[in-house]
Order: sequence, then structure tokens, then C-alpha cells
Amino acid sequence: MNTLIQVDTDKKIFYLCNKEISYIFRVLPKTQKLEHIYFGRHVASHGTVKNVTQADKAWGEDLIAGNQYSSLSRLMQEYPEYGTGDYRLPAFEINYPDGDEISNFEYANYKIIDGVPDIKGMPHVRYSKSDCQTLIVTLKDQYSGLKMKLNYTIDSINASLIRNVEVVNDGEQIYTVKSLKSMALDVPNDDYDLITLNGIWAREKQVNRESINPGIKEISSRRGASGHVHDPFVALVSSETTQNSGEVYGISTIYSGNHKETVELDAYDVVRVTAGINDDHFSWDLNPGENFVTPQTILVFSDRGFNKMSQTFHNLVRNHLIAPRWRKRKNPVLINNWEATYFDFNEKKILDLAKKASQVGCNLFVLDDGWFAERNSEKGSLGDWRVNYKKLPHGLDGLSSRIHKLGMDFGLWFEPESVSEDTPIFKQHPDWIIGIKNKSHSQGRNQYLLDFSNPAVVDNIYKQMDKILSTTKIDYIKWDMNRNITEPYSQYLSLNQQGEFYHRYILGVYSLYERLVKKYPEILFESCASGGGRFDLGMLYYAPQTWGSDDTDAYERWEIQKGESYVYPLSTIGTHVSASPNHQTGRQTPLKTRGNIALFGTFGYELDLLNLSELEIEIIKQQINLQRKYAELIATGDFYRLKTSLSSTDAWMVVSRDGQQALVCYFKGLSHPNMGYDHVKLYGLNDEIRYSINDSYYLYGDELKNIGLPLEYSLNGDRIQDFDSKIFEIKAN
Ligand code: DGJ
Repeated sequence: MNTLIQVDTDKKIFYLCNKEISYIFRVLPKTQKLEHIYFGRHVASHGTVKNVTQADKAWGEDLIAGNQYSSLSRLMQEYPEYGTGDYRLPAFEINYPDGDEISNFEYANYKIIDGVPDIKGMPHVRYSKSDCQTLIVTLKDQYSGLKMKLNYTIDSINASLIRNVEVVNDGEQIYTVKSLKSMALDVPNDDYDLITLNGIWAREKQVNRESINPGIKEISSRRGASGHVHDPFVALVSSETTQNSGEVYGISTIYSGNHKETVELDAYDVVRVTAGINDDHFSWDLNPGENFVTPQTILVFSDRGFNKMSQTFHNLVRNHLIAPRWRKRKNPVLINNWEATYFDFNEKKILDLAKKASQVGCNLFVLDDGWFAERNSEKGSLGDWRVNYKKLPHGLDGLSSRIHKLGMDFGLWFEPESVSEDTPIFKQHPDWIIGIKNKSHSQGRNQYLLDFSNPAVVDNIYKQMDKILSTTKIDYIKWDMNRNITEPYSQYLSLNQQGEFYHRYILGVYSLYERLVKKYPEILFESCASGGGRFDLGMLYYAPQTWGSDDTDAYERWEIQKGESYVYPLSTIGTHVSASPNHQTGRQTPLKTRGNIALFGTFGYELDLLNLSELEIEIIKQQINLQRKYAELIATGDFYRLKTSLSSTDAWMVVSRDGQQALVCYFKGLSHPNMGYDHVKLYGLNDEIRYSINDSYYLYGDELKNIGLPLEYSLNGDRIQDFDSKIFEIKAN
């Protein structure tokens, strides 16, 4: 591996560079604080970079008396602290035994290691030692025995950097960490816009673009999960950035709990971004000898718009986050019984559906909510994970072996963190429920949450799940979570530890995943939280796919999946074809379109196949054939959000990395009469190659890229209708 990290030891300048990006910072000679210099398109480590730094005389509060070069308020900083003359949001705050929060961390030393430092108990990027290098810069507090390690990991291919921080208490007193972000980034403003992904149940990951104005903007979750409302992602983009051009800084944290991202524009036109664990309702006592490690944040730079940013995230997730065994897999085509039966099923109904599903070509049957205890509605039984023999007289094992005999794998739904009032666990262990005695406990979907900060609780659920998994052949688990934390309080944690509750809760969730994945590595997990309520990079470390949304309407799904694709690769987005009229919106959409949009995800079905016409069954068989043909391309290709010439239509594509093959989906949305010519320019193809389009005509790569693919507003001469769509199969010929 070429050296990715260079250090000018005289001038104390650090360069992290690969052929795509450079990230540069230095130690300020007078104060020994870290000054951020640059992050962006590759620039070489010339040794002259010091001349472009900002360390001129500054008007402000000087850290060193009488020294006007020691004011921090006008400097771009690497990991800013609280209590100096820099009044912007700090990256961390520590409470000292005197009650103050004034720190003075100065540069101490650095080291460079191959690979990435170990993170235990939390999701993290998976790199081998030969894949990347990490710069570890240690700062030492002048007022305590605390040390701070800033980690920066860079690989040789991706336009990205992984950052996180570890604070170590080498002193003799207890210090309380009030805030410890995974990173801070100061960049000179370039008329930047802020991009965020927002929503609510059934409307996840809607892309928002707004200009950055003076002051502070916060994106966060206080729900105990990353949440439907704000994804732990922000991007700064130049005002002219489009899908395929312009600069983007994309920032996303590998974390599933309370997160906070702040974007602050100061009076000197510098934008400061911080990201990491939400510091509201957070505090963590560091006893002597203890450390605290933050989640990792991924920073991506793109000079070719949003698509390049997304492709970098996708490559990182596919190659360095999800477990190796799931990287090159062909997703199974699943059928999930939820929208076909809801709670109203028995063994016969399930087997009839499974038989039909295997005939059309599905190869994984997923039994959703309602198979356990007395669970016949949304009320009750969560936390009592024993099979309901009234519904399934041959038990789970009997059902599983019957489904396997049909040639299909068998998957099962769990909601491990939740509990209902009518269960033994609730009655016997009232102290295992989140909340405090004699105060309100809000219900969500008629249920409560278990205190996963308590290892005994996690152990109980592990044992219940293990009992099933060790006696029944289960190939897939859908791990759901249908309410958020309210009235946060743990009866297990001490008084002083209540500020640790939210983080310890998510560590408990991770620990259960860890135990299950370790014992049952062959089980494919799909995470879910009422759809995309915990769709984040942290979950993908354990569960390589996430149910994209409870909104299965094709028209709505186009926008939801588009938002999800900003950070998450298609191979991680759970997509199902469901019934029409749609159960969430009442909208009717063509089966063809429902299939075409679901194709750009993990792909499966969630409708009653026994209630369809022969023609519909034939269409489904064709859809599954198409999915099998392109599963690998979808899982490994580059994804582009495209721009059609008509503003009312839309398109996206996946192209193989060698440019030999591509799949374009054209979506018309609402139809309009008397429309003009529509076409779309493609990407990732080779100029000189001749491509066949749907085996019916040819165009060269340079034509498809520059003139564009003709889209025929009236598809195939069909009757024009709302929500029509068309797939273009493009291959080198
Ligand atoms: C919410 C999920 O998102 C649905 O797919 C389904 O599994 C239900 N929960 C079951 O309760």
C-alpha cells in the first residue's frame, strides 16, 4: 500500500491523501491546538501548505495573554473544545470535579497504524490491515489525566475518511463526559446548501435542501433510535450541485441511537459541522482507568454531485460495513405474509400461500407478526416468544420443515426489544420496563420497551430466541421495533448513570445482535422499525438489509427509495410488491410498475398471491425472472439518479462497474396528455461500445451518454396511464 498518511514532523502538518481526496491539518505552534486546513479534492503534500493557513493576528479572546495569534475564534479547528475564545459549538464537553467544564487539550503525539483501531461492542467499518491506514493523534488535557485520541482512517480507493474519538481517563479522579462528538469539520463557506433526509412513519428519507444561514441548525433524534424523522446524515453542497456535478461533503455516522448533527455558520463565513451521539440527556462518568469510544463517522467528498457521493457510501457499505458473507450474495426473492394475512392466519393458510409462492419462483417465505403466544392483534404477547400451537399445530419446526420441502427458506419475525402487559416477563419483572415507578409510562402501539441497558434483560431475550433458533431451521429474521423510547429511565442503572441510559440501551441492542450473529452467522437479518425508523449504517453492520418503509405504494416508494439511495446501497433497501389498491394510500398502480420499482432493492412480495388472476401470476413470474437475471448487477453496480427531459417524469439506473451492462427504470408518475419528447442521458457506459436496448435496437455509449436514451412518453404504444413505468435492459453488443 502506498503511504496514505504523511507527516511533516518539523512543521507538524498531517496529510491524509489518496488519489481522490486530501485531508490536511496541523498543530498550531503557539497553542498546540489542532488547526484544520483542508478537506476536498486531492492536493499533493507539497510542504508549502502552511502558507495558506489562517493563523494571522486575530481580533478576539487570546488563549495566551498578549498574544493575538492565539485567539481560536477565527481559526478552523480540528476538534474544538469548550471554554476557550471560540464561541461556536464545541466537539466535546467534560465536567471536572470543581464543577467547571473548561478543558485545555494540547497536542501530545501521533502514530500511524495499518488498518483501523478495534471498536468493541459497536458497529464499525471492517477493513483488513492492508486496506487502509489510520492516523491516531493524541491530545493531552493540561488540567487532568485525560487523553483524547483522534482517529482518522483513509483507504487508497474511496473518497472518504472515517473518524472517531476515544477519551481515556489516565487520572485519579472521575470526570463526566457531557458531550463527545465523533467529529467536527470546519470548512470555508462556498454558498453551501444543507441536505438532510427527513420524514415520519411511512414517509421516510425525504430529501430536503436549504441554504445555510448564520446561526445553528440541528438534525437529531431523542427517540432512542436513529428514527424516522431525521437520518444521521447531512451534506454540504455548493449551490450549483446537481446529481452529477458540483461539490458535496456527505457525513453519516455509524450509529442507531440518539444522534445529533449540527451545522453552524459563523460571522467569518466558516461552516462548522459536528456529528455523533446526541449530547442532550447524555452524560457518562469516566472512572480512573476507563475510556469512552464514540461511533465512527464517515466523511465523503464528491466533486461529481450527489451520485458520486452515494456511490462512495455504497462502496463503503458493501465492501467494508456489511458482513463479508452477505457482500456478493444474490438476494433471495421473499414472500412475506404481513399484508396478505396480517394476524389472521393458520398453518393451512400459510402453507397455501407458500406453495403458490414457490410455484411463482419465490425462495424465502417470511412469517411476520402473530405466530407467538396469544398474539392475534396489535395488543399483547410481545416478549413471550413461544409458538402459538392453535395457529400452528405442528409448531414452528413443523412449519419450517414443510416450507423447506417446498424448496423455500424460512424466515421469522421478532420484536425483541418490546413487551406487552399480558406476558410473564412484564408481570414478573416490572423493573425491566423502561420508566420510573409512580410516573407515567406512555404506550406506543399498545406496548412498552424493555430496558436493554440491563444485561439480564438482553440475556432473557437472547435465551428465548436461542431456544427457537436452536430447534427450528430459520434462515432469515426480521427484527422489528415498533415504538420509540419515552420517559427514559432505567431501574437497573444507578442515579449517576441515568445520563448513560440511551447509549447503553443501543449497546444492549448491538450486544443481542452480536450474540445472535455470532452463533447463527448463516441467518440473514433484516432490520425494521415500523419500516425505516432505524434505517442507519449501524444496523447494516449486523443486518445487511432494512425494510425500507411500511408504505408499499409504488408511487410513494419511488421517492422514499430515492432518498434512501443517497447513503444506502440498493442491496440494503427492503422492497416488496404489494396489493393494489395499496393498503396505506388506497392508490391503484400497475403491477408492472410495482415490480419495476421493487426491482431496485432487495425485492420480494407482500400480497395474497392466491387472490390474483392468471395474468397477474404470469407477470409475477416474469418479474422474478428479471430479478434473478439482474440481482448481481443491482447488488454490485453503480447507481445513478437521472434527470429526464420532462419535469413530470423520472428515471434511475444501475450500471455494472465495467460498463458492459445497465438497467434503467423510467417512471412517469402522473400522466399528462399531449406531452413532448422525453429522453435521459446515461452514465457509466463506454463511449465506443455498441449497446443493445431491450434487444430491439442499438445505440453507442457516447450517444447514450451525450444525446440520451429516448423514453417514449406513451410506453410501448400502451394506453397512457398514471404511474406507468418501463425497464430498459442495456447490454454491450
Ligand atoms: C411493522 C413492520 O414495518 C411491518 O412490516 C410488520 O412487520 C408489522 N410491524 C408487524 O407488526
